[in-house]
Amino acid sequence: MLNDKVDKVSQVFNKNEGEMVKVRGWINNIRVQGGLTFIDLRDSTGIIQVTIKRSNLGEQLYDEIVSKAKRETSLIVEGIVKNDPRAPGGKEILCNKIDVISYSEVYPIRKGLSISKLLDLRHLYFRRTRFQSILKIRSTVIDAAREWFKENGFFEIQCPTFITAAVEGGATLFEVNYFDKKAYLTQSSQFYLEAAIFGFEKVFTIQPSFRAEKSRTRKHLTEFWHIEAEVAFATHDDIMNIEEELVYYIISKVIDERKKELEILNRNIEKPKRPFLRISYVDAIKLLNDKGISIQFGDDITTEAEKTLAKMIDRPAFIMYFPKTARAFYHMPHPEDNRLTLSSDLYVPNEGEITTGGQRVHDLNLLIERIKENNLNPSDYEWYLDLRKYGSVPHAGFGLGVERLVKWITGVSHIRETIPFPRTPVRIYP
Ligand code: 4AD
Ligand code: MG
Repeated sequence: MLNDKVDKVSQVFNKNEGEMVKVRGWINNIRVQGGLTFIDLRDSTGIIQVTIKRSNLGEQLYDEIVSKAKRETSLIVEGIVKNDPRAPGGKEILCNKIDVISYSEVYPIRKGLSISKLLDLRHLYFRRTRFQSILKIRSTVIDAAREWFKENGFFEIQCPTFITAAVEGGATLFEVNYFDKKAYLTQSSQFYLEAAIFGFEKVFTIQPSFRAEKSRTRKHLTEFWHIEAEVAFATHDDIMNIEEELVYYIISKVIDERKKELEILNRNIEKPKRPFLRISYVDAIKLLNDKGISIQFGDDITTEAEKTLAKMIDRPAFIMYFPKTARAFYHMPHPEDNRLTLSSDLYVPNEGEITTGGQRVHDLNLLIERIKENNLNPSDYEWYLDLRKYGSVPHAGFGLGVERLVKWITGVSHIRETIPFPRTPVRIYP
């Protein structure tokens, strides 16, 4: 049976009236109307109407199916293609043979369930067209990123998940027992990519990062997929240009290749205008103060301030030169204002931050000084400091959150919709 030749639903729509087809899949919907039964049969390529008549199937099988076949029953259907303007897509299968593979129990996903109950049933979500559309877009985002990196001379590196010291501050580290030692889950592969540039110059990775982020927002997960890149001999400006090219390429590919899915999601998105905006942190604060948001020099941009800024831009915008007080120790100080760093966040309209990047401190003594200024212990960063001892070079990199980008592209209201099995402070099942 598994090797039988079958037609995919999408192929049936290209057949002529009268052709015989054999399709297998799941019942998306079944309704009895007089002496006829209509099944919407779903496979991985689409949904087609199948009409069943008692006279074609025989009394016994017809009655069994009508009484037992609920939504999600899996079956193989054989029949003739018919044109029918009333059927979705204009074609249907007039069935003359059905093999039931497995009857379904009452399918538990239905209208009116609470979000929490729906999330408990996440393992059943893949059957939904809307969810499939989001995941197809997600898949295109990841394909496009990998494609862009490969076309631009980047080498893909895999980095560890168990690590021993924080990249992005201790507050969001997940601690794990590693035999008799303490270890953590990685927050970012940046330091490992920094090691890799000395062999490959331009590197990237696509893998999960973890944050023990207790804040319950619509944009935070505890496990997210992180696209990160690091480039030798690159400046902060170079890295912003790379981010702009990459993000533009990804969005363009989704718009060109995922029209149907964007339509299903009711999402009307255009290729962004270029160049992306470049706004300094100091100017961003002024804009925010003018909008009545109290934020002072040295503060990080709060969630509320981020939202406000994101509403003010008509295309992606880099917020540049964050103060040292709002950035991790490894950022290069700004050569013209020592209070600032050569760093930036890329914001997208109505959404906010999707990347953080910048130039790294490549001088050993300055890096030790910055670690101490941040009340951290240089001995926790021994191998990272080592990278500054053997032919250190200026370099820069960034991290892009896959789910943040997919959330923006798809326009869904919560980040958990952009990943198959979301992990949040209150959700680790299924
Ligand atoms: O801004 P972040 O913390 O920067 C870094 O980790 C750098 N070390 C990256 C680098 O330079 N290689 O994280 C980068 C991006 C954010 O802009 C956001 O898109 C995403 O990762 N991100 C999250 N996405 C979902 N849930 C969370 N809790 C996230 N934390 C960060
Ligand atoms: Mg950031």
